[in-house]
Amino acid sequence: MEVRVRRVRAEELPGLLPLYMRAYQGLERYGESTEEEGIGYLRWLHYNSPEGFLVAEVSGRVVGFLACDPDWRARQRKVLEIHEVVVAPEFRGRGIGRALMEEAFRLGRARGREVASLWVGEGNVQARAWYRKLGFKEEGRWGEWIRMCRPLAGPR
Ligand SMILES: CC(C)(COP(=O)(O)OP(=O)(O)OC[C@H]1O[C@@H](n2cnc3c(N)ncnc32)[C@H](O)[C@@H]1OP(=O)(O)O)[C@@H](O)C(=O)NCCC(=O)NCCS
Repeated sequence: MEVRVRRVRAEELPGLLPLYMRAYQGLERYGESTEEEGIGYLRWLHYNSPEGFLVAEVSGRVVGFLACDPDWRARQRKVLEIHEVVVAPEFRGRGIGRALMEEAFRLGRARGREVASLWVGEGNVQARAWYRKLGFKEEGRWGEWIRMCRPLAGPR
């Protein structure tokens, strides 16, 4: 199975909404609750960092996306912030999430960032385990959100 990761085109954003809403079924607490909020969120992610909004295609079909910002400011330094990553349920466990994340890491390294970071809902135990598998460590908490970070430098 060949996975192609590329930048999203702005006109594709509305088409990603069903994928986003479906990915958060059962995790509604941590996602946007209406389609209107969902599309607003996707547009904000793209507006914030068009180059950091990546899609994964299999046979010409978009089956996952990741939105990151390689210029995000966190505690007086710039980091690669991973804002969102979702893969269609029927395509999970095939390396698509990893392919998206590796492209984001490349973008962060190319920009000279030393750390990738993200927030994940404490109840999203599967995503937390997945991030740990990809080298992230839990480094803090804000209410029900957990901060996870991973160094970008050096061989992995
Ligand atoms: C989290 C998510 C993006 C993972 O995508 P994916 O395409 O299934 O992940 P991959 O297949 O690339 O997994 C990469 C590796 O992690 C492993 N893995 C997959 N799910 C895992 C889990 N829940 N816990 C631990 N490891 C996991 C895979 O076996 C694979 O290991 P390998 O490289 O040694 O073979 C996907 O499950 C998803 O869309 N979840 C719902 C949305 C969500 O919670 N997003 C995060 C919001 S903060």
